[in-house]
Amino acid sequence: MSEAQAAETVWEPSPNDLESFWMPFTPNRDFKQAPRLISRAKDMHYYAADGRAIMDGTAGLWCSNAGHCRGPIVEAIQRQAAELDFAPNFQFGHPKAFELASRLTTLAPGDLNYAFFCNSGSEAADTALKIALAYHNVTGAGSRTRLIGRERGYHGVGFGGISVGGIAPNRKFFGTALAGADHLRHTYDREHQAYSRGEPEWGAHLADDLERLVALHDASTIAAVIVEPMAGSTGVLAPPKGYLKRLREICDRHGILLVFDEVITAFGRLGHAFAAERYGVLPDIITFAKGVTGGTIPLGGVLVRDHIYQAFMNGPEHAIELFHGYTYTGHPVAAAAGVATLDLYRDEGLFERALALEEMWADAAHALRGEPHVADIRTIGLVAGIDLEPVEGKPGQRGYQAMKTAFHDHDTMIRITADTIALSPPLIIGEDKIGQLFDATRRVLRALD
Ligand SMILES: Cc1ncc(COP(=O)(O)O)c(C=O)c1O
Repeated sequence: MSEAQAAETVWEPSPNDLESFWMPFTPNRDFKQAPRLISRAKDMHYYAADGRAIMDGTAGLWCSNAGHCRGPIVEAIQRQAAELDFAPNFQFGHPKAFELASRLTTLAPGDLNYAFFCNSGSEAADTALKIALAYHNVTGAGSRTRLIGRERGYHGVGFGGISVGGIAPNRKFFGTALAGADHLRHTYDREHQAYSRGEPEWGAHLADDLERLVALHDASTIAAVIVEPMAGSTGVLAPPKGYLKRLREICDRHGILLVFDEVITAFGRLGHAFAAERYGVLPDIITFAKGVTGGTIPLGGVLVRDHIYQAFMNGPEHAIELFHGYTYTGHPVAAAAGVATLDLYRDEGLFERALALEEMWADAAHALRGEPHVADIRTIGLVAGIDLEPVEGKPGQRGYQAMKTAFHDHDTMIRITADTIALSPPLIIGEDKIGQLFDATRRVLRALD
């Protein structure tokens, strides 16, 4: 190769090249042999590259709560991109970020009156953990450095999130992550909770595991506990009745901050703006992402209560109070998408709709009991988890097969975590489409080896 050739910039890749994109959380080699390509979407449906309508049984990745390509959100994004594409929120500001913050804090329960923005659920989890640590620092409790998560928890893929997360493959390749993290035991016990509708009756006492960790580490070393009110990514685990209240009480007793990771549960998934409302439990910090823009533009954030924000509002007025933030914190286009999405949720009553459909949804899901390979079914809000018996010696294979078959042969997008199918459709779904979704799932189950 001559020097001139070596220096040449190549702009045009070969057409249809699937090789270069290293896909996330995907078996790349298998995907690239038989790709599941989506080319457009509208309302409840994706459209595959070959033109087939694919029912969206998962709201994308738990995010497209208002359905796809909704006019008012698309228009708000277009308008904002044309008017103000970017402005920094470090030392400057723009109206949409402030507007979205006040909309969210108005919607949030209690005195969760302050919003900090980032771009994803992972960043939201790390932001929440950093604020918790810094809060103790600025209030003179700097020995509180320990962060407690829960087995089977998912808080994204940042180093903070994987430290408190409790899904083994998300952790085991990445060293020790943050020192000093510990975990509550998870809340699932098939013997006591199989085929649960809503919150399982059994298991409130599992919150007492926090007392065990307090006894081990001493409360004076613990900054915060972070849990998903409903654990989604691990395969849909609703909190046992009374569990979250008990966790709140124990945190209060020991001066530990309670963080609800509501990246999945916020914005209607459990029939309320936030799961905190469903459970009547006020955490100190809520993380959110996904549904805040209906998945249209990346946006995440945390909501914090008055005492957290106010603890930082000390020192000289010219000095930065929190050394944290992202270039795209409160990005104008994302903020505009957020405001338009909240409008749509309100105008179409989508949170109430999810609540009204919950019983019917649960009936349809639990009707799959007894179908081939089904080992447990759990429903809550507009979410269903269906555990499949694993193929002996090959964990995850049956689930993977189910997802592929659903897409290629039954025109349906379902989500899997190992051998658990998780369904969580856009909240615009109606009774007929719920029927179609579970019919397709039934056919998938019957088609599996
Ligand atoms: C509870 C929870 N937290 C954090 C995340 C991470 O969000 P993201 O993928 O946007 O980083 C997720 C993603 O599913 C989640 O479910």
